[in-house]
Amino acid sequence: MPTEKVELVKGVYWVGAIDWMLRDFHGLWTPRGGTYNAYLIIDEKITLIDTVAPNFTDELLDRIRTIIDPAKIDYIICQHVEPDHSASYARLIEVAPKAKIVTSKRGAEYLSAHYPGIDFPYKIVEDGGTLSLGKRTLQFVAVPMVHWPETMVSYLVEEQLLFSNDAFGMQIASSQRFADQVEEWYEPLRSYYSYIVRWNARPVLKALEKTKDVPIKIIAPSHGLIWRKDLGKIVEIYKRWSSSPEKPQALVVYSTVWGSTRKMAHAIREGVASTGVPCEIFDLERDPHSRIQGAAMEAKAIAVGAMTYNVDPYYPTQAFMPYIKHLRPTDKIGVAFGSYGWGGGATSDITKQLTAMKFGEVLDPLDVKWRPTEEDLKRCFELGKKLGQKVKAAF
Ligand code: FEO
Repeated sequence: MPTEKVELVKGVYWVGAIDWMLRDFHGLWTPRGGTYNAYLIIDEKITLIDTVAPNFTDELLDRIRTIIDPAKIDYIICQHVEPDHSASYARLIEVAPKAKIVTSKRGAEYLSAHYPGIDFPYKIVEDGGTLSLGKRTLQFVAVPMVHWPETMVSYLVEEQLLFSNDAFGMQIASSQRFADQVEEWYEPLRSYYSYIVRWNARPVLKALEKTKDVPIKIIAPSHGLIWRKDLGKIVEIYKRWSSSPEKPQALVVYSTVWGSTRKMAHAIREGVASTGVPCEIFDLERDPHSRIQGAAMEAKAIAVGAMTYNVDPYYPTQAFMPYIKHLRPTDKIGVAFGSYGWGGGATSDITKQLTAMKFGEVLDPLDVKWRPTEEDLKRCFELGKKLGQKVKAAF
């Protein structure tokens, strides 16, 4: 039974749920658990912003009860219909019988499609529309594709508080609710962004442009930590990731059966490192793909390796290719490498895929037959060196 009360500003409370055991959030690796944030505004109209994932409705209601009887809720703001935020609405309209579900026209359409047979008491709001809560006012801003077409954010005008839904969110379970109380937020924020948001980078930039003149003191997302200090810094990180996320660094990823491609991968990494460019290396069978994807987003160059399995790239590399594609890697340098026994095929397939993803530059692939010789490893080292030099030249 939760007892803590987290007050963002007077009369605005965090009432979400913490999933300490979460390790996989629809494919996103979450080694530090997850959070579903909901917020309760106490005013003349009692208002709940978003709800929580399935199985956490009781935790949400228990937190609300530490502040007020849920039956007193007047408005439930539905900013985004994805079930990690909307799964509690059916139960809430039972315990809060006078509450209206405040959402966009599209939000209502999506909610009814997700929960057929439930007659939600909708109050439809427009982009830019406002809702008086008594002493304070909520303003709604449509931010389509951040992260679904119906997504909107809500701005509590008098407090300069932005409820940003998925934007600026991360998956992390923590006893602290604010980002300034937690040291290691960069990696979970980057993973969440690269896996869930980066594909929609252009809509994110549009949303940032749309809200750029709005004074904001607090950003309260629907996952993870709340931002109340150095807001400029977090907004700049989002702008960078949504425009050109690349840093002067490289990445080598590979999969192998008997170790030949691994030897090549390490020689390439050493070649990159010899130029002074930092270079991470990941075995695609050992590390979670969404962990690697965050590093791939910030890498200027990526060397993608696989041995040839029959005629194709070995399966772990094939499975990772969409993770690269969804980063929209148009400013990156790519190259394929790998070993084969007789027919080959892996590196030409990877090269085709990198080209189809519109990599800024795709180098000729590097193949090794059977086991790499000392001469082959020198070629790998030289390829890495070339990659490193290209990365340096780009900054
Ligand atoms: Fe947190 Fe797009 O849902």
